[in-house]
Amino acid sequence: MSALREELDQEIKKRRTFAIISHPDAGKTTLTEKLLLYGGAIHLAGSIKSRKTQRHAVSDWMEIEKQRGISVTSSVLQFDYEGCRINILDTPGHQDFSEDTYRTLMAVDSAVMVLDVAKGVEAQTKKLFRVCKERGIPIFTFVNKLDRFGKAPLDLMDELEDVLGIRSYPMNWPIGTDGRYMGVYDRRNNKVELFAEDTTHGQEERTSETFEPGDPEMIARIGEDTWEALQGDIELIDEAGEDFDLEKVANGTLTPTFFGSAMTNFGVQDFLEEYIRLAPPPAPRTSSDGVIEPDDEKFSGFVFKIQANMNPAHRDRLAFIRICSGKFERNMSVWHERSGKMIKLAQPQQFLAQDRQIIDTAYPGDIVGLFDPGVFGIGDTICDAGHKFKFADFPVFPPEKFARVQAKDTMKRKQFVKGIEQLTQEGAIQLFRQAGAGMESYIVGTVGTLQFEVLQYRLKNEYNVDIVMQMQPFGVARWMAFEDGREVTPASLKGIDRGMFVYDRRDNPVLLVSNEWALGWITENNPDLLLNHVPFDKKEV
Ligand code: G4P
Repeated sequence: MSALREELDQEIKKRRTFAIISHPDAGKTTLTEKLLLYGGAIHLAGSIKSRKTQRHAVSDWMEIEKQRGISVTSSVLQFDYEGCRINILDTPGHQDFSEDTYRTLMAVDSAVMVLDVAKGVEAQTKKLFRVCKERGIPIFTFVNKLDRFGKAPLDLMDELEDVLGIRSYPMNWPIGTDGRYMGVYDRRNNKVELFAEDTTHGQEERTSETFEPGDPEMIARIGEDTWEALQGDIELIDEAGEDFDLEKVANGTLTPTFFGSAMTNFGVQDFLEEYIRLAPPPAPRTSSDGVIEPDDEKFSGFVFKIQANMNPAHRDRLAFIRICSGKFERNMSVWHERSGKMIKLAQPQQFLAQDRQIIDTAYPGDIVGLFDPGVFGIGDTICDAGHKFKFADFPVFPPEKFARVQAKDTMKRKQFVKGIEQLTQEGAIQLFRQAGAGMESYIVGTVGTLQFEVLQYRLKNEYNVDIVMQMQPFGVARWMAFEDGREVTPASLKGIDRGMFVYDRRDNPVLLVSNEWALGWITENNPDLLLNHVPFDKKEV
């Protein structure tokens, strides 16, 4: 084996690249912060997100994020823990989220799903879960806020199965619930772990004591009743529950489930350790030239996110690359598949939020940020010139919210178009043009309404353009084609006055309507019309 191959194998084995998905407020930020705390990447957990007055996470970059106290764009956190290199790709946690969230999930090897013990599976959890499931990546579950009143663990396991269709395997079992959480039973090691009082409000690691099951001191501490209830639960899950099967975990049909409390540091360290043990290292990827193994000596990667002006002091644009194979080296030249040109990768960045560091090398599973001279687009492949290929296309996410957008001041049209084009290229918005309308306004489609605020803010701050936005009463977009291939035009369709006929950026005809019901009306009136959630040549999630 070559020296490079050996180096790659060693580095790949160490890497765990994942995203944390959750419904807003389930505790994603808090868990991220605590993982960093245990990983030694920060010292006092409070330094990431100090309480209410200053709510923003390390990964909040843009000004708007600080103002809103939410994380709008995805970012990357890297740290080492017990010989492993952890890459956490942050995903926006707000109610409204963008395609960024989905795309980030294209760049990970596994996902951690955080549930609020009182709320169980919520709307956004479902959406994000679906994308992970579609990719077939392993999903680990952290049931959070066990220091509070919540649903019974067995009920939550049923909910996971009923709502998400995934079986769960409890890795630990909470001792004492409903806010009286004393510790966990560790199923793998057959040990009881009781936690010491938290005297630092979760700012420091929490100490615990381990007992053999049946230890009288432990029983005295938790009480006879709790001990009996625990034994009953364990017997039940041992007998009636799923067997642990790493293969099922690997293909996303079984989720290892952990109970804990991120805020008070219950079970966070155990979770991190088990996660590292069980989560997969960087996986092979499909490409136009078959499967690309991570330990292939030839470098490859793809762009999963582009972000402009992360630092207001520098007007820069960064392309985030997930490395898929080979070794990344600063200043290396790579083949950019879409443009068919060689590009030199200078000044690569790695991140802990504002503290960007220039890096010299990186390996499969790592994320690097590259200054983008305007060549990169979402989903682009970069690879070694000696082995040219293209990674499988990113799935497209159908837009659900629409607005008509134009510049307030018509004299600023040039900057307006530039800004809109830029944001479209970043993948923050999808651009449409109404059939028959002039060029002064666009119809902008997004996955969530927050993107409109981001659009307004960024056009103002980066391009100095005020815009006028009119939300449109549509919730559904369908790309259209006739069965016999004849051209779809507004005049060729019947009964579309309930919707809006638009063209996408590549001049494909698209129909916007309010809901599925309106769509039914259109299909009834136009029996040979084919409708698709995304352009006909793209794959949908
Ligand atoms: P998110 O990123 O998923 O949106 O959630 P985030 O971590 O911001 O947590 C949402 C709220 O839940 C926060 O409270 C946070 O402190 C609280 N929380 C997180 N983990 C736990 C836990 O284990 N137990 C309990 N009881 N609460 C938890 P907040 O009041 O909105 O903000 P703050 O005042 O704590 O900043």
